[in-house]
Amino acid sequence: MTDFDPLQDPAATVARYPHLRHAPATARNRAPIAAALAELLSATPCTVLEIASGTGEHALWMARTLKQVTWQPSETTSEGLAAIEDWRVLCPDLAGRVRPPVMIDAACPPWPGPAADAIFVANLTHISPWSATEGLIQGAASRLEPGGLLCLYGPFNEGGAFTGPGNAAFDADLRRRNPEWGLRDRAAVDAMARSNGLEPDPPRMMPADNRLLVYRRV
Ligand SMILES: C[S@@+](CC[C@H](N)C(=O)[O-])C[C@H]1O[C@@H](n2cnc3c(N)ncnc32)[C@H](O)[C@@H]1O
Repeated sequence: MTDFDPLQDPAATVARYPHLRHAPATARNRAPIAAALAELLSATPCTVLEIASGTGEHALWMARTLKQVTWQPSETTSEGLAAIEDWRVLCPDLAGRVRPPVMIDAACPPWPGPAADAIFVANLTHISPWSATEGLIQGAASRLEPGGLLCLYGPFNEGGAFTGPGNAAFDADLRRRNPEWGLRDRAAVDAMARSNGLEPDPPRMMPADNRLLVYRRV
């Protein structure tokens, strides 16, 4: 165990610990996300609340990479919290800066808990009804201090159009699975954010036709 790094190759970790939940995309997108957050977050100690943490793999990687950050993961069910905790206990060196996960439904603001310096959300807006994005923005606005950041990672449309054929096919698949799901138009998210006191930065382009949308609490 001492020589084994659970985050180095998550697929190998899952082979060793088959009870773990694993999202392969997190191993591909974690480094570019961490690099973007490193530019955005304060270099002094700060707290990040993550909504829709999924497996929790982002939480641990970001805490490892961004050493000034205390990361609060969250999910919507007790099974989801347990899955994050399974990864967390494998990384005792990070347990002090990755807090035990808490239950938060983005669609039901205000969320309990203290203010955060930033709120990070990956891959939620298109895999949930629009009401979750509305709730997410309202909830974030109430948990951020002035100057705090809401960072949304994922695929988004621009000017009502898909940004590439991969995203168009992804959207069709999502809508087949659930008619309320689907890629959101960035302008609609920007408008919702502005109406809740969150001012958009220019979007950051990310690999695989994703974006990091950043909103600042005014
Ligand atoms: C595609 S996964 C993304 C997980 C993780 N952020 C990632 O990028 O690997 C979508 C996640 O959103 C969560 N989710 C769905 N509806 C939600 C809601 N209303 N509030 C918070 N989380 C939600 C699901 O439980 C799931 O873990």
